[in-house]
Amino acid sequence: MIYPVTVFGDPVLRKKAEPITKDFPNLKEFVQNMFDTMYNSDGVGLAAPQVGQAIRIFVIDSTTDEEEEDEVPGIKRAFINPEILEKKGDEWVMNEGCLSLPEIREDVSRPETVKIKYNDEDFNEYIEEFSGFTSRVIQHEYDHLEGVMFVDYLNPLKKRILKSKLTAISKGKVIPKYRIKVPGK
Ligand code: NI
Repeated sequence: MIYPVTVFGDPVLRKKAEPITKDFPNLKEFVQNMFDTMYNSDGVGLAAPQVGQAIRIFVIDSTTDEEEEDEVPGIKRAFINPEILEKKGDEWVMNEGCLSLPEIREDVSRPETVKIKYNDEDFNEYIEEFSGFTSRVIQHEYDHLEGVMFVDYLNPLKKRILKSKLTAISKGKVIPKYRIKVPGK
């Protein structure tokens, strides 16, 4: 099942998402639907608030990266109740986009490596480090669970330039190829 994607202006994107418990109903189905929704909109990552749920789940597929020749191959994975333990390494800039910010792409600087604790769909716990493009996608999606979007990192001038575009998105005037849920509707 493909969910509509929440866009800029929806309050769920600004909430701090809550952890889920082991008895969360139909977790595997929800995760599969998140993957389906992500692929349907050609995304490389999707966080639960982007489908209207303020819970700590995101999915990523960084195996499709064609821009960078990373030494490490990408991953396709769901992160349940993730917790970033450490960010380290030099910051590098990448032009980012977001399914909740259709038609906006901006350069964002983030640290190279992330150390993260998370559970899989069976609630097995892992602590792992990721670098390169995978780390980039994880940091972007993790931000969504904290109510943060990449436009928050832009300087005041760039924010000012983007303001009318963001307003248009929040009013449902920017229509991407995938289904969206317009705030308040
Ligand atoms: Ni995003």
